[in-house]
Amino acid sequence: MTDFSIKDFSNFKSMQKKITMVTAYDYTSAQILESAAIDTILVGDSLGMVIQGKQNTMEVTIEDILYHTKSVRTGAPNSFIIADMPYLSYHFSPNDTIKNAAKLICHGAANAVKLEINHMAAIEHIKALISAQIPVIGHIGMTPQSVNMFGGFKVQGKTNNEALHILELAKEVERSGASAIVLECIPAHLAEEITETLTIPTIGIGAGNSCDGQVLVFHDLIGLTDSPPKFVKSYCNAKEILTQSIETFANEVMNGIFPEVKHSFTGTIK
Ligand code: KIV
Repeated sequence: MTDFSIKDFSNFKSMQKKITMVTAYDYTSAQILESAAIDTILVGDSLGMVIQGKQNTMEVTIEDILYHTKSVRTGAPNSFIIADMPYLSYHFSPNDTIKNAAKLICHGAANAVKLEINHMAAIEHIKALISAQIPVIGHIGMTPQSVNMFGGFKVQGKTNNEALHILELAKEVERSGASAIVLECIPAHLAEEITETLTIPTIGIGAGNSCDGQVLVFHDLIGLTDSPPKFVKSYCNAKEILTQSIETFANEVMNGIFPEVKHSFTGTIK
């Protein structure tokens, strides 16, 4: 149970209290995150990979995000939920952006939306959302929706020019009214500089230990992902535990061990 609100992004930063964020896509995992008192839950477009089994996030639609946001809200009624704006849901007119975000806020009961930003022209979409009273989280660095422009999932900001571009984007995201900013796969020293420069908090993923908070994908965190990226720490090996449990079930069924009497019902036949 958590009572995190939009104001807590800046409160946590001024108190130097780290912010935790984990993705969820369904009722059950959302329940687990809420009972573990995770500050913020992200319905990420990473669902394209971990739920839909795609190679990247490019095919995820606003309807997909809405469907999963509704399930997550049911599982985590008291949590601060951020819904991802998928590819092409904020690339046309600012009015279209507002309409798409409004679906997630009004029908999915999300508290905020997240937008990937990797060029200055995208900033107007953040401003439009703020004008419609929709809280925004920015996302810069290795923005997965730019995979085709980056030529793969590659660390960004390694050269001086790239680093300056990312720093300028971060400042612009703050100026446009965003409440926090996700920094994905950039060098730790660049994330540290952005974190020190901005007044809004940074939430890192593959961005070192200086960020104001950290986010991980649920499936990576619990060890359900084969060969996770370098920046992931898996806190248990759920894949192994689940596989063993299911194999044990199958063995017990085949050998007549399950179900036992305690799993069965009694009654009379007339
Ligand atoms: O979609 C997602 O899960 C994300 C996180 C990796 C930040 O954007």
